[in-house]
Amino acid sequence: MSKKVYIESYGCQMNFSDSEIVASVLVKDGYTPVKSAEEADLVLLNTCSIREKAEYTVLQRINEMNNLKARKKGLKVGVLGCMAERMREDLLEKKKVVDLVVGPDAYRTLPDLLSKVGTGQKAVNVLLSREETYGEIEPVRLDSNGVTAFVTIMRGCDNMCAFCVVPFTRGRERSRDPHTIVRECEQLVEQGYREVTLLGQNVDSYKWTSPQPLSRGEGLPSAGIVANGHSPSPVGGGREGAVDFADLLEMVALACPTLRIRYSTSHPKDMTDKVLVVMARYANICKYIHLPVQSGSSEVLKRMNRGYDRAWYLERMVSIRDHMPECAISTDIIAGFSGETEEDHQQTLSLMNEVVYDMAFMFKYSERPKTMAARKYADDVPEDVKGRRLAEIIETQKKKSAERMASYVGQIHEVLIEGVSKRSDENMYGRNTQNSVVILSRSFNGTELKPGTFVRTEIISSTAGSLFGTVIQVLNAEPVAA
Ligand code: SAH
Ligand code: SF4
Ligand code: F3S
Repeated sequence: MSKKVYIESYGCQMNFSDSEIVASVLVKDGYTPVKSAEEADLVLLNTCSIREKAEYTVLQRINEMNNLKARKKGLKVGVLGCMAERMREDLLEKKKVVDLVVGPDAYRTLPDLLSKVGTGQKAVNVLLSREETYGEIEPVRLDSNGVTAFVTIMRGCDNMCAFCVVPFTRGRERSRDPHTIVRECEQLVEQGYREVTLLGQNVDSYKWTSPQPLSRGEGLPSAGIVANGHSPSPVGGGREGAVDFADLLEMVALACPTLRIRYSTSHPKDMTDKVLVVMARYANICKYIHLPVQSGSSEVLKRMNRGYDRAWYLERMVSIRDHMPECAISTDIIAGFSGETEEDHQQTLSLMNEVVYDMAFMFKYSERPKTMAARKYADDVPEDVKGRRLAEIIETQKKKSAERMASYVGQIHEVLIEGVSKRSDENMYGRNTQNSVVILSRSFNGTELKPGTFVRTEIISSTAGSLFGTVIQVLNAEPVAA
């Protein structure tokens, strides 16, 4: 009988994507993934350290595992991901229920660590690597809707934003071999997937250099694609042995013309016009950019060590809209960073009013141990002021989201259906290229619409969070080719 593993993921999409690598390693080691902790012999929590609250949620969940262990003899519990990296052996000491602690770069060693756990010992591996990209590991898709998937293209982050724990939990930045990325996307197409999101903490600094010098036309993916005759003249390069993010996007767009392509996350200081040119050129690259601004005040951005100021960010906005007038933009904003004055806060609100984001993720600043901000600056904005500023930011965004969504009414959008609407099983939901959720009726001309179908849709109404549409044509199989 094979052993059963349940993996619960917290945090960013990269963590969810890592869980699929972990599942792949464990399936090879004889485990079967299951859908609940109650069914499992091994429970793995893939954790996040980004804010104190994120860690608190997981610490509560670890406590719950105590009860489960009391009921299920032999159950083993492991902590993976960013909290494993940050808290290390402390986790084993403070939370006796934990048997196993494994950092984000050590998942290949899981089988060895688990055999140690099997003999009743505790096991830890939190070594970070400069090379590990899990490049050739074929992920086992967990909780998949069969329509959309994530593919990690790089790991770690070298940016050292003053507030951020990620460089400490994920280590140095490294890029995955583009051949393996393209191959994984091609496999997704073969398996019937319709959309991929390419993931990295800062995709704009993706850089892959061939380990060996290549002769002309040999080995490099762009060159290969040109030789295959898919494209008359790609925007990208890659011919000198280096592949940057724009080149990679183009390679995937050309290799998988029926696949919709998204990516996350861009960094305003590194986002190039070359990427915008590639995005504009290929219809199967979605017109949506997540570009976290964090603050509208240049003073605050400087203390955050973000590497750009307000004027630079706004110039990037102009360039996006010059290249792709229909492009949607979303952002992340932190309220109440160290030293943030009322005037700084007002600048964040004014930037939001100026840009008009489709969507935003908004957070109260949470000081993280070891970060530059924790070492250099006092966490001096009182909790109630942080709360009030966050509420104002959320209020402003609600209005702007509603404005953006209303501007889509009357337009015809191509929507990829992802599944049955959570609110009513009479309806389906999907997304347009701008990444907004579109609600549609479940049937069209007497036939039921299935997940994975592309439909031309007239947008008939909107709220701040979603659009409602009427299907006018089923496009399906060859939907969005360039
Ligand atoms: N790599 C991405 C962001 C990764 S973390 C980027 O550079 O934009 C996701 C978001 O969490 C960040 O954009 C930021 O808004 C928020 N965040 C990160 N650290 C935080 C902290 N200490 N307190 C509050 N929010 C934080
Ligand atoms: Fe954190 Fe900055 Fe890296 Fe994003 S770019 S992960 S915010 S250090
Ligand atoms: Fe959280 Fe780690 Fe992602 S801290 S946001 S899971 S990189």
